[in-house]
Amino acid sequence: MRRAGTARLTRLTIRRPDDWHLHLRDGAALRAVLPFSAARFARAIVMPNLTPAVTTTAQALDYRRRILAALPAHLKFEPLMTLYLTDDTPAAEVDRAKDSGCVFGFKLYPAGATTHSESGVTDIGRIAAVLARMAELDMVLQVHGEVTDPAVDVFDREARFIERTLAPLVERLPALRVVFEHITTRAAVEFVRGARPGVAATVTPQHLLMNRNALFAGGIRPHHYCAPVLKAEGDRAALLEAVARGEPRFFLGTDSAPHARAAKEAACGCAGIFSAHGGIELYAEAFEAAGALDKLEGFAALNGADFYRLPHNSGTITLLREPWDVPGHYPFAAEQLVPLRAGERIAWRLAP
Ligand code: DOR
Ligand code: ZN
Repeated sequence: MRRAGTARLTRLTIRRPDDWHLHLRDGAALRAVLPFSAARFARAIVMPNLTPAVTTTAQALDYRRRILAALPAHLKFEPLMTLYLTDDTPAAEVDRAKDSGCVFGFKLYPAGATTHSESGVTDIGRIAAVLARMAELDMVLQVHGEVTDPAVDVFDREARFIERTLAPLVERLPALRVVFEHITTRAAVEFVRGARPGVAATVTPQHLLMNRNALFAGGIRPHHYCAPVLKAEGDRAALLEAVARGEPRFFLGTDSAPHARAAKEAACGCAGIFSAHGGIELYAEAFEAAGALDKLEGFAALNGADFYRLPHNSGTITLLREPWDVPGHYPFAAEQLVPLRAGERIAWRLAP
């Protein structure tokens, strides 16, 4: 990392980062959001929760082609694909995925845990053979870590998932590499820190910058609603502390998840926060607040690549400490997309 400025850092150049958890959607929505990510990130793990879900290597290769076709000519970006696990995923799909060279993991959505997770896994026992094959072929498991038991309080679903599912799983399959996606709690931070090698976590900007009060600030705030939901201040502080210490098991995954304004501002609004317009800048804010801008590069550009055993990117990006006004909405196919911080400011800007 190169620095300039004296009293306060005003310019920060880091190796080009990657986004290890991203929702790009498809069709016109894909075309609307992809340029934001591609302007900042060299690569991203592209989540497979389309309708229908991306469950096979063949579907992932088709989706990858559609993403590349939607990429503006002046941008370079490499989509890294992952397959959506269902109760019926055959173990042979792991071999096909590995052989493709384009699929880098399998995503476990407990059925019903979040947006478009209806075809997810109803019982982890049903995918035992698939998980065993993943461990053999060194294919990464990406986990949406929440129990779906409606009797469990929504704020406790991640912690219960660790106890009931994730901790037993990582012990049962010691060779399986696991990314605990978008962690939100102190319990998750402590679990990942203390877990065996081969267990890591992604962290979103919203879970570093906001706590659950942001859901109710002045009224109900649907654009702050995501899954897993924002947690208490102590949880946010634990996440920020882990990344600010530069712990290598934690890395960047925005979970940028666009939904049309009407689907968010509704009686039963969708989970998902769109953050790709500030996909690195928002993290710079969080790291600056923690006095840890020197740890941003590791979090954003090194730790994830090392975990996935991929090379570091060769280029750099530069961030300027110049606040800018986020628009109230961006175009989103025929609809509107309300971004995180709509009508407010982000403190860092990506240099042109
Ligand atoms: O808030 C979320 N939105 N969480 C998820 O797990 C899925 C995502 C989406 O696809 O909208
Ligand atoms: Zn996600």
